[in-house]
Amino acid sequence: MPERDPLAADRRETYLHHESETAPQHFTTRTADRQAAFFLPHLRPRMRLLDCGCGPGTITLGLAEVVAPGEAVGIDIIEGQLAQARQEASSRGLTNARFKAASVYALPFDDESFDAVFSNAVLGHLGDPAAALAEMKRVLRPGGVVGIRNIDIDGQIYVPETTLQRKFRDLYKQMLAVNGGNAQIGRHHKALLRETGFDVVRASAMYEVYSSVEAVRHWGMVISGLWAEASVVELVTRNEFASHAEMQALSQDWRDWSEHPDAFFADAWFEAVGRRPGHASTA
Ligand SMILES: C[S@@+](CC[C@H](N)C(=O)[O-])C[C@H]1O[C@@H](n2cnc3c(N)ncnc32)[C@H](O)[C@@H]1O
Repeated sequence: MPERDPLAADRRETYLHHESETAPQHFTTRTADRQAAFFLPHLRPRMRLLDCGCGPGTITLGLAEVVAPGEAVGIDIIEGQLAQARQEASSRGLTNARFKAASVYALPFDDESFDAVFSNAVLGHLGDPAAALAEMKRVLRPGGVVGIRNIDIDGQIYVPETTLQRKFRDLYKQMLAVNGGNAQIGRHHKALLRETGFDVVRASAMYEVYSSVEAVRHWGMVISGLWAEASVVELVTRNEFASHAEMQALSQDWRDWSEHPDAFFADAWFEAVGRRPGHASTA
């Protein structure tokens, strides 16, 4: 009998990278110091923090160190990612982080049970980011803070830029849109927070830069790996966004780009902090 998926009812879309091997490998390069820098000034020791869509948990673990002896809880819909996160917590000797399988649409936590909620690179994959934010707000205490961070693909800068890279941007938008997701969600942060009843504390943006030979090769590997994923090939060809031959050309184009002596990539990330209205906050 096929294994029952306990989260089936709470998945509203098929996460693009659900079968990927290269994407989670890339996520393990992320840290709280870099990817959550905008949110750190709002965190204090002894807070209880939730990381929604934590992936392999490297950011969550950095956040756990900041709120210690408080607790950081990471949730994700992919059990394999959580297993990786637990293993990393134990190898770092961190005892105030725990990880749980859950969907951001149905958080298995009481109302007002967290001081801070964080989410990196998740809302753009969702068909209903407002419902996810409303759920984050439900579990936040009044005065508690939410920190969200997402790309806006039109802010990406590739040097040298090829026609195929421009094609990649269009394809990525189309792939996310199949699920109702939005590769340009970063620019909508303020509106999303306001419309879900948060007070907007701050909205900002920054570039993540890939410039060294190693960094550029790493990014080339991540993107050419994307085009080799069976589920991505199936999604793109079934919807006739591109042919098999075009996808192979794209994959080769990324490998060629990553060997170019001038290759440079700047990835535009948008960040925002909101506060749940209510009594005075300590954040
Ligand atoms: C791009 S990854 C980001 C992972 C991590 N936040 C990071 O920045 O490294 C997106 C993550 O969101 C998770 N995800 C997608 N849909 C979700 C949902 N409905 N509820 C919870 N997690 C979800 C995926 O499984 C994946 O681990």
